[in-house]
Amino acid sequence: MFSRVLRTAAHQGAKSFSTSQQNNVKVAVCGASGGIGQPLSLLLKQSPLITELSLYDIVHTPGVAADLSHIDTASKVVGYNGPENLEKALKDADVVIIPAGVPRKPGMTRDDLFNTNASIVRDLAIACGKACPKALVGIISNPVNSTVPIASEALAKLGVLDPKRIFGVSTLDVVRANAFIGEAAGVDPAKVNLPVIGGHSGVTIMPLLSQCKPAVNFPADKVKALTERIQEAGTEVVKAKAGAGSATLSMAYAGARFAISLIRAIKGEQNVVECAYVRSDVTEAKYFSTPLLLGKNGIEKNLGIGSLNAFEQELLAKAIPELKKNIQTGEDFINKN
Ligand SMILES: NC(=O)c1ccc[n+]([C@@H]2O[C@H](COP(=O)([O-])OP(=O)(O)OC[C@H]3O[C@@H](n4cnc5c(N)ncnc54)[C@H](O)[C@@H]3O)[C@@H](O)[C@H]2O)c1
Repeated sequence: MFSRVLRTAAHQGAKSFSTSQQNNVKVAVCGASGGIGQPLSLLLKQSPLITELSLYDIVHTPGVAADLSHIDTASKVVGYNGPENLEKALKDADVVIIPAGVPRKPGMTRDDLFNTNASIVRDLAIACGKACPKALVGIISNPVNSTVPIASEALAKLGVLDPKRIFGVSTLDVVRANAFIGEAAGVDPAKVNLPVIGGHSGVTIMPLLSQCKPAVNFPADKVKALTERIQEAGTEVVKAKAGAGSATLSMAYAGARFAISLIRAIKGEQNVVECAYVRSDVTEAKYFSTPLLLGKNGIEKNLGIGSLNAFEQELLAKAIPELKKNIQTGEDFINKN
C-alpha cells in the first residue's frame, strides 16, 4: 500500500519541510463517507503534502472526520455534512476528488449508473465552479466517460471551465494493468509502467502493452487475454463482491496516487506524469485519456498516444465510437438539465 504513492509523498514532504516556501494545500473529498471515500481519505491523511483535508458527504462525515482526526499526522481534518455545507467544504480547495454516487451491482454496466450519478456530479461541479474555480478536480464517479463531459459542461455554463483542470480518474486502470502485467511477466508490479489510454469502461479501456516499461514480450493470444482482463477488471471485482459494490480499496489507492501526483505538480515538482481522461484533441473523441505532464495549473502538456501497433489500432477503432456515444450522453444531459 505504501509503495510508490506514499513513498514519493513522504520524500516530497521532507524536501518541502526543508524550504520555507511550502504552500498550504487543501484537498476536498466529495463522497468521503463511501466505500472509496473513507479509505481514500485515510490514505490522504497520511500525506505530509496536505495541510487541510475537507471531507464532504450527505451522510456520516462528522464521524469519519472525527475518526481520521485522531491520526497523528499534521493535516487538519474537517467534516462537512449535507448540501448546505458543500460550498464551505470546497472553499479555496486546491484539489477536489469526487467519488460521490452509487456503485455497480452484479449485472450492471457503468452506464446503468448514469441516471443517479449524472446529477450528483453536475451539482458538485457547479459548487466547485462557485467555491474553488481554480481547483484541480478529479472525478471518480461513474460512468467517467460521461461524468467528465457533464462536469465540464456544467462549469462552461457557469463561465469558469478550464479544461486543463478537469480530470476523469482512470488511474485504477493503470494500477490494475501494472499489477496484471507484473504478475504475468514475473516483474515487480511497482516497477511496471504501462500507459492505459482511451476511456474508463469496457472496450474504451486501451492498455498499450507495446509501450510498457520495462518492455514485455508476450505472444498475441496472451496480449489479447491480458488486454481483456484489464478491460473487465472492474467487473471481476463487482462479481466477487456479489452485490456489496465495486472496487473500493484499489480505487482508493489509485485515487490517492492521482491526488498526490496533482499536489506534487502544484508544488512545482517537475516531470509528474499520469494518465487521465480529459478534454482532448488527440483523437476524434472530444475526451480521451492519455499520459499527461502535470503542472501547477493542471495539464501542462498532453503527451499523446505514441505509436500504436496493429492490435492497438484495432482497440482504438472499437473505442472511439463508444466514447463518442458516452460523451454525447453526458453533453445531452447538461443541455436538457
Ligand atoms: N473511476 C474508477 O475507476 C472507479 C472505480 C470504482 C468505483 N467508481 C465509482 O465511484 C463511485 C463511488 O463508489 P463507492 O463504492 O465509494 O460507492 P458508495 O455508495 O460506497 O459511496 C458513495 C458515497 O457517495 C455519497 N453521496 C451520494 N450522493 C452524494 C452527493 N450528492 N454529494 C456527496 N456525496 C454523495 C454517499 O453518501 C456515499 O457515502 C461510484 O460511482 C463507482 O461506480 C469509479
